[in-house]
Amino acid sequence: MLLEIVIALVVGALLYQFVFRRKDETLPMGDGWWGAGQRHDDENEDIRPFTIETSEEELNDLFHRIDTTRFSDPLEGSRFNYGFNSNHLRKVVSYWRNNFSWSKQLEILNKYPHFKTKIEGLDIHFLHVKPVNLPAGRKAKPLIMVHGWPGSFYEFYKIIPLLTDPASHGLSEYFEVICPSIPGYGFSEASHKLGCNSVAVARIFYKLMQRLGFRLFYAQGGDWGSLICTNIAQIAPSNVIGLHLNVVFALSPKLPVVLSVFLGQHFPGLFGFQDEDVRRMFPFVKKVFHQTVKESGYMHLQATKPDTAGCGLNNSPVGLAAYILEKFSTWTDPAFCDHEDGGLERKYTLDDLLTNVMIYWLTGSIVSSMRFYKENLGRGIGKAKHDKIPVIVPTGIASFPNELVHCPLLWAKQKHHNIVSFNYMPRGGHFAAFEEPEILAQDIQQFVKKVEQKLECNK
Ligand SMILES: *[C@@H]1O[C@H](CO)[C@@H](O)[C@H](O)[C@H]1NC(C)=O
Repeated sequence: MLLEIVIALVVGALLYQFVFRRKDETLPMGDGWWGAGQRHDDENEDIRPFTIETSEEELNDLFHRIDTTRFSDPLEGSRFNYGFNSNHLRKVVSYWRNNFSWSKQLEILNKYPHFKTKIEGLDIHFLHVKPVNLPAGRKAKPLIMVHGWPGSFYEFYKIIPLLTDPASHGLSEYFEVICPSIPGYGFSEASHKLGCNSVAVARIFYKLMQRLGFRLFYAQGGDWGSLICTNIAQIAPSNVIGLHLNVVFALSPKLPVVLSVFLGQHFPGLFGFQDEDVRRMFPFVKKVFHQTVKESGYMHLQATKPDTAGCGLNNSPVGLAAYILEKFSTWTDPAFCDHEDGGLERKYTLDDLLTNVMIYWLTGSIVSSMRFYKENLGRGIGKAKHDKIPVIVPTGIASFPNELVHCPLLWAKQKHHNIVSFNYMPRGGHFAAFEEPEILAQDIQQFVKKVEQKLECNK
């Protein structure tokens, strides 16, 4: 009897999909201007080389603030379960103050060419890394890679060589990589106007790629980068050859998705669930619902009162480090909550983690980075036009086991109508490029090969 009800529901769901599904449409490109004051259209469109530099004064100010930090003692035995453990924070801060060499990190940061250019009233920062030892007759594929929060372009430093110099790493596809900073993050100017959301940033990055002469390109992203790249594919589907994501936001009220939540554990086959999907998603209340509530407090704050929540962080480097690095603990592996040191150095070095914090600190960009949640989620989740429009460009999904919310193929398909690769990655969490550059690079490579083969066949 139960099976019959299930079959009836699924047939109903398919009919519903078939009858009510919206016709494919593209997202309007729109237009915007986010500079200070009155709009002016005589913008200088030069692409200017940029080098990250820091003054003695800025560093002395940082050290002074670190030295005058007030710590609170952690609860005994709390490890990382109450947030960043302050005993461990003291150790991280001592390393920052006494061992971390900013001048060494600056050298690393500046080893790739940086640029800035004005788009829609904002000075947009980006890395532009050309292929190394490109064999004669081969063409590198342009690839835009977009970071998220609380990350930065620095997340891509270990994956860039795997993509621009593949031969030295046993890989074959050559890329020319563009990593922009989202407006209000790091060295990209923050919007001065309300409403600079993911679609506006997608348009700005699309304009950036056009300005650089890349009519056709690939796009890759996780976190906000995933949404921004998806939006680029929606506003300019004929310019994006392929879209590769390591996070998919596909919360959907569609019937098959809803049914899969209730019935997927017992009838996985009906929803195309693999054992791995069941392992990652069920029991649903514990693995998805509780986990989401537990980990999303920051999002509610940032999507409602970012300026209040960010005020203290922009004044205290130690507060900022705790706020940012806690995410690099829990979002890398939820089990790291039970480690005294948050497991931070299991996957990252303190040098890399603190470099990302320094990018936020020196640019004073934490508040503007937090505002992006308000611009995108302030009116409710799933309400924007882009949420309701499918993505038609070839899409590849690398699904990492410790990602915050697992998105099975069935859910992803509701939005991405042309998925050419969907892989369960063997290890890794939310910061895929930063944590597991090799397996992410391999996944991007195999995806691009598949897309290129299809293009060949269709010629
Ligand atoms: C940090 O520097 C101090 C003093 O220079 C040294 O004793 C200590 O071993 C260093 N710690 C690390 C983790 O490098």
